[in-house]
Amino acid sequence: MNILLLGSGGREHAMAWKIAQSPKLSKLFIAPGNPGTAQLGTNLLIAADNFPALKTAVMEYNIDLIIVGPEDPLVKGIVDFFAADADLKNIPVIGPDKFGAQLEGSKDFSKQFMFRHNIPTAGYLSVTSENITEGINFLKSLQAPYVLKADGLAAGKGVLILNDLDETISELKAMLNGKFGAASKTVVIEEFLSGIECSVFVMTDGKNYKILPEAKDYKRIGEGDKGLNTGGMGAVSPVSFADAEFMRKVEERIIKPTVDGLQSEGIVYKGFIFFGLIKVNGEPVTIEYNARMGDPETEVVMLRIKSDFVDLLEGVAHGNLNEKTIEIDERTAVTVMLVSGGYPEDYEKGKEITGLNAVEGSIVFHAGTASKEDQIVTNGGRVIAISSYGTSKTEALAVSFTNAKRIQYEGKYFRSDIGFDL
Ligand code: AMP
Ligand code: GLY
Repeated sequence: MNILLLGSGGREHAMAWKIAQSPKLSKLFIAPGNPGTAQLGTNLLIAADNFPALKTAVMEYNIDLIIVGPEDPLVKGIVDFFAADADLKNIPVIGPDKFGAQLEGSKDFSKQFMFRHNIPTAGYLSVTSENITEGINFLKSLQAPYVLKADGLAAGKGVLILNDLDETISELKAMLNGKFGAASKTVVIEEFLSGIECSVFVMTDGKNYKILPEAKDYKRIGEGDKGLNTGGMGAVSPVSFADAEFMRKVEERIIKPTVDGLQSEGIVYKGFIFFGLIKVNGEPVTIEYNARMGDPETEVVMLRIKSDFVDLLEGVAHGNLNEKTIEIDERTAVTVMLVSGGYPEDYEKGKEITGLNAVEGSIVFHAGTASKEDQIVTNGGRVIAISSYGTSKTEALAVSFTNAKRIQYEGKYFRSDIGFDL
C-alpha cells in the first residue's frame, strides 16, 4: 500500500523509519518531511495543514492510508475534510476528527471529559472574563504553586506554574486579555500535583486499543531538569517506575474509561492517544491528553515496537485492532536530542552538520535539519535525535552520547543527564 505521513520532525522520521520496514509498504510519501525522511520515501513540498494540496497529492500518488504526526492538522479538522470529500472519504486518516482532537485542542474540554468519566486528574476551574472573580477566589483556596493553562493550543507555552498568588492573579488577567491570543480566552486553573511524570500511548480504532511502550521525556533545557521548557531534550523507554502494577492501574482507571468514554459519547477516534501522567503517592493521575504521539518519545517508542507498525495502523483504520497483536522489544531504548545553541530562546539556523556518517550503533532521526546544496544544515531548535538500544538505560545512553560527540555543528548542545532520575 502507499502511505502518506504528515509532519516534518523527529517524530515523523522515527515513524517513517518504522513504516519503511513493513512488507506491506509499497511507497512512502512524507509531507513536508525533512532530509531524514527523504532517505526513506518521497518528500512532498506540502504543508501538513494544506488540505486541498494534500488532496491533490493523495489522488496523484494513489495513497491508501494517511498518518498524521502533529496535532495541528487534527485540530484543524483534516479527518472531517477527508470524510466530507467524495473522492477521499474511503481513504483512512489515522487521527481523531476535529471534535475528538479537542482532547488536546481544548484543556477545558479534556478536563470536562475526564470528570464525566471519573478519570483521575487534578481539580480545576475554567475561567473566562465572565467569571474572573470566581477564578481569583478559586486561586485563593489553593496552595502554591499555582497552575494556569491556556485552554487552546499555544505552541507548548500555554502552561504557567507560579509561586506567588498576586503574580498568578495578574498573569490570569493577562492571559484572559489575550497573552496567548484566542488560546487563552479561557484559562484552566488547576490544583498543583507533585510527583514524577511519564507518557503512555495507545493506538485505538475507537473501540479496541493497544498500549504502546511507555516513555519519559526530559523537557527542560538544563541538566537536573533546570531552566526553560523545550519541546523535549531526550527520552527513555521503558520507565522503571511505571511497573506492572502501575500500568495495570493506568489501564483500568485511565485508558479504558477514556476509550469507552469516547465511544459512549459517539466521538470518532481512530488514532493515537497520548496520556501525560504523573505518579502521585503511587497512583497515576492524568495531567493531559494529546491527540498524537509525543516527540521525542516516538524516537524511542518506535524502536521498541517489534510488530509490523503498518499492520497495526490498518487495524486502527479498519476497526479490527482486536485481531492484531503487538510485540514489544524487551530492550531499553533512549534518545538524546542535539539542539541549537540558544534554544529554546533565539538561535541561529543554517549551520553545517558534519559527522552524520561517523555514527555507529545508533539510529539518527532528523528533527530540525534542511538540505542546502550538498550539505545538511540546522533548521530548527531541536536538530537531531540520536536513538540507541541497550540492555540497560546506562548502556543505551553511552552509545547515544558517544555518537552525540561525533556529530558536529556550531552551537551544538545536548543534555548529558537524560534518564538521571529513573
Ligand atoms: P500540559 O501542557 O498540560 O502537559 O502541562 C505542561 C507541563 O506542566 C506538564 O508536563 C507538567 O510538568 C506541568 N503541569 C501541568 N499541569 C500540572 C499540574 N496540575 N500540577 C503540576 N504540574 C503540572
Ligand atoms: N514530549 C511531549 C510532547 O510531545 O508533547
